[in-house]
Amino acid sequence: MEVVIVPDAKAGGELIAGAMAQLLLDKPTALLGVATGSTPLPIYQALAAQVAAGAVDVSRARIAQLDEYVGLPAEHPESYRSVLRREVLEPLGIGMDAFFGPDGTAEDVRGACEAYDRALAEAGGVDLQLLGIGTDGHIGFNEPCSSLASRTRIKTLTEQTRVDNARFFDGDIGQVPHHVITQGIGTILEARHLVLLATGEGKADAVAATVEGPVAAVCPASALQLHAHATVVVDEGAAAKLKHADYFRHTFVNKPAWQGI
Ligand code: GLP
Repeated sequence: MEVVIVPDAKAGGELIAGAMAQLLLDKPTALLGVATGSTPLPIYQALAAQVAAGAVDVSRARIAQLDEYVGLPAEHPESYRSVLRREVLEPLGIGMDAFFGPDGTAEDVRGACEAYDRALAEAGGVDLQLLGIGTDGHIGFNEPCSSLASRTRIKTLTEQTRVDNARFFDGDIGQVPHHVITQGIGTILEARHLVLLATGEGKADAVAATVEGPVAAVCPASALQLHAHATVVVDEGAAAKLKHADYFRHTFVNKPAWQGI
């Protein structure tokens, strides 16, 4: 995988938005897999700025959701569908008709998961999947020890993830659902390009395990090592525990510009 160390979150956002813009130039109908959480916000802001400046055309782009809480009505402000509508679709001017996501309120959860995997495949697959990372190394909501071959399915959140996400629910862990639907690790690995952004020292251990640890289900993000085109973008804080940081810096500085990320 490629590791790019950037000075700060804003620079990471701009780098990744640039790659998305290039993809949209090459393929205007690209299916963009998007993630929630605080980390990707600078990406969405940078991309929205490019759209506002007329530098990128997203009129034919499509958006796919990574994961969703089970049991939160779609219109709940913290359902990931609502979050993505607010933070991605509306700022980019993309309508919900171009949106793909699992139904977190379905009675038949298993059927909803299978339907979502089918919908992604029928849409031609995800071209670029954005990922954040949990402090425990999760991607999407694939918690530690998730099968590296997993498909979209229901998962139970760890207590740590519920604590981490309580900030979106008035700091009240009691409001954080226990169950979620997440694209499986096998599903995620089918996207053509994986781009993980991690910022802040709180992610340093998870990033080191992802990049320099063994491929192991105990760190779900380490599955990125199996992907032919995976890019991990980290700020100095998140890079703090990387033993090969100097090599990653050297590689990026000397990279031919035409290669992109
Ligand atoms: C949630 C999401 C993940 C995200 C993670 C980290 O658990 N399901 O997709 O990567 O949070 O969030 P943050 O970027 O806010 O640290």
